[in-house]
Amino acid sequence: MRVLRTSNLLLLATNVIAIPQKIQGKNVESREEQAGATITVDTSKTYQTIDGFGFSEAFQRANTIVNLPTDKQKEALDLLFSTTTGAGMTILRIGIGSSPDSSSDHMNTIEPKNPGSPSATPNYVWDEKDSGQLFVAKQAVTYGVKTFYADAWSAPGFMKTNGNDANGGSLCGVSGATCKSGDWRQAYADYLVKYVQLYLAAGVKITHLGFLNEPELTTTYASMESSGAQAADFIKVLYPTLQKANLEDVGIACCDAEGWGDQKSMTGSLSSVNSMVNLITSHAYTSQPSSPIGTTHHVWQTEWADLQGAWTAAWYGSGGAGEGMTWANHIHDGITTANCSGYLYWVGAQGGNTNSKLMKIENGVVTPSKRLWAFGQYSRAVRPGAIRVDASAGGMKTTAFKNLDGSVAVLVINSGSSTTVSISFKGFVGTAVKAWVTDNTHDLDSTPADISGGVVTGSVPARGMVSFVVTGA
Ligand SMILES: *[C@@H]1O[C@H](CO)[C@@H](O)[C@H](O)[C@H]1NC(C)=O
Repeated sequence: MRVLRTSNLLLLATNVIAIPQKIQGKNVESREEQAGATITVDTSKTYQTIDGFGFSEAFQRANTIVNLPTDKQKEALDLLFSTTTGAGMTILRIGIGSSPDSSSDHMNTIEPKNPGSPSATPNYVWDEKDSGQLFVAKQAVTYGVKTFYADAWSAPGFMKTNGNDANGGSLCGVSGATCKSGDWRQAYADYLVKYVQLYLAAGVKITHLGFLNEPELTTTYASMESSGAQAADFIKVLYPTLQKANLEDVGIACCDAEGWGDQKSMTGSLSSVNSMVNLITSHAYTSQPSSPIGTTHHVWQTEWADLQGAWTAAWYGSGGAGEGMTWANHIHDGITTANCSGYLYWVGAQGGNTNSKLMKIENGVVTPSKRLWAFGQYSRAVRPGAIRVDASAGGMKTTAFKNLDGSVAVLVINSGSSTTVSISFKGFVGTAVKAWVTDNTHDLDSTPADISGGVVTGSVPARGMVSFVVTGA
């Protein structure tokens, strides 16, 4: 629309004859505007609690931020975490290293040497870098981030059936994984607790702890196989170990399966340790979050991305896998159809030419994609602890949330032509409204919205998303 208007002005200056036609064209377009949409939000009808939105900087991706000059570091961190100029992300997923070295993108372990036996005293080595992740985590704290999910891809190799942190293998001591060297479950639990303590001492409180990543996958990088039953065998040891270390408020997360279907069946096998589990986590690569996992625990989609697509910063072109609006829709679907309380992209910042990250950092230049703004439309408006409430759709993908500060956020994704909206509330009286828009020409920009008699009016552009945040008296 804006581009069209500009070209009209240009035509006005250069070609008088063309004016009536062009003006007529514009009128035709404005007649295409949808009749106003009516949305009703009922705050008395509640669904899941939201923990937040985020990403990881594992696999040394954090170093793309660490290696920047200070002013550029701030630019990158603001884009990720600032609630006024960035996406306002609220969850950081941290990769717990298992590799004996730091070559390529390996995440080095805090226990590089085999102590000799499961009961021998471990020799932990803390480099205070953790593949760049400690820096990013400490910075996140300064932006107010309070949710840190530390997740191990594997135990160190000497604790596993294959003697290697890569190439699959299982943790020695879980059912079906007997090793000559003994049962390493307690040693792995101690190791994970030590990691949490190291972060705590550095000022970062790990809130959620995972010990598996894609446990159905055997691959050349850090990977450890596990069935649901084997995960339960380890949780039985990890839970009391956290208790003993006075870390009972660190929630155990499981199991970061490759896809929703796998995680559903693994979750079923966790029933014997259900009370020890705090969070169910799944990726969305092999099957997407299209129905609830079937648990009373919070559920997060902890890793997904367009890994292969050539880098695009676009919002909407053809509905491609890397486009921002595609991700706005994914998040909506995860929250509404799969009961997600958290939603994470794979990587926040990284170099290279794929869409595996939200933001590209290359040659010192920081370039956000619209995927980042899609996450920002949610994360800035829907803050940790918000409760999802009922919202009629108004012909669009609409969600609503009651924040802990009393404000109500109403998020609208418009896949049709531009429309006005009228939002009324049951069980809530709003007195002021702010709104942000993202579309092809806006990046979480402020957009006008009014409130009168508790009814919000505004507009949502064609192929655009608007987040309205309404505060009460
Ligand atoms: C949705 O998640 C909440 C926890 O956040 C849980 O209590 C509820 O049972 C879940 N609903 C479904 C349908 O899975």
